[in-house]
Amino acid sequence: MLPTIEWRGDRVVMIDQRLLPEEEVYVECRSHEEVAAAVEAMVIRGAPAIGVAAAMGVALGFGREAKNDGSDEAFRRVTERLGRTRPTARNLFWALERMKAVYDKNRGLSLEEIERLLVTEALAVEAEDIEANRRIGAAGRSLIRHGMSVLTHCNTGGLATAGYGTALGVIRAAFEEGKNVRVVVDETRPFLQGARLTCWELSKLGIPHVLIADGAAGWLMQAGEVGLAMVGADRIARNGDTANKIGTYSLAVLAREHGIPFYVAAPWSTVDLSLDDGRSIPVEERGADEIRRCGGRPIAPAGTPVRNPAFDITPARFLSGIVTEFGIARPPYERTLPALGRP
Ligand code: MRU
Repeated sequence: MLPTIEWRGDRVVMIDQRLLPEEEVYVECRSHEEVAAAVEAMVIRGAPAIGVAAAMGVALGFGREAKNDGSDEAFRRVTERLGRTRPTARNLFWALERMKAVYDKNRGLSLEEIERLLVTEALAVEAEDIEANRRIGAAGRSLIRHGMSVLTHCNTGGLATAGYGTALGVIRAAFEEGKNVRVVVDETRPFLQGARLTCWELSKLGIPHVLIADGAAGWLMQAGEVGLAMVGADRIARNGDTANKIGTYSLAVLAREHGIPFYVAAPWSTVDLSLDDGRSIPVEERGADEIRRCGGRPIAPAGTPVRNPAFDITPARFLSGIVTEFGIARPPYERTLPALGRP
């Protein structure tokens, strides 16, 4: 298992994903503010991992803040701060809602008791994510045939989750059952999660892969070098519209043009049944320098106007299916998705 994030009692430790693959450096967060800043700076990223970080941030922040402010005010302030970090991933808000449910149910207890229960819940969020990922892998691996080339986007592996991965977990599960798989990884400008993180994970796992420039995907599809696409998600609306890393929509349109199956893999914590469709998913815009600079150097004239949406929304009609820990949803998603999640 790759070390994405770990609870250490008085602190949360996470691998600094900004520095991979060059350096494996661990960052220690000792307050919810430090966790929030780490999420904003993308020390830790990937929807499920952000959810785990938020849950641990609450457990870490509540005890410290409640000693000064009283527990209601402390809980409100801590969760509000963590909720202001990155708007798109449903998992962040799902995790905060879970922590709030525990807090609301136990408000009458002592601060120490509440703190202990919040820590237990944060660790449950972490453990359940690993379990969900393994089940996503088991549900989706038969989609990948022996000898297939699978295109993936961004990073959806152990680093993006509490462990194992979602879309990369499906690929990994196919590989682990002995299938000969080749992963086509696109760079994923501007943060380069594909080049830096997915290639790092795949080489550690010994899974054959090839890195391509983002713009090469269509050409490889046309050349018959992609058998299937498998990507992750940050938020999935009730009708299946899916927010994921910028560039996903373009890949889905290309895949449709070339008759290539296009799958999304995500845990239930990414599904937002409260939204009818993708139009109301908030899309994060990030800073201009992520585009104007690369590897610490300017790649455009200073002051060049920039648009930097970090995510896009792929309309559900482009998806062949959505792989979750409860199985694979197929169109029409407004019917199949809610049914899949119903206990
Ligand atoms: O900006 P990021 O790196 O947090 O975006 C990550 C993605 O878009 C992933 O595909 C998504 O969160 C799924 S991770 C299992």
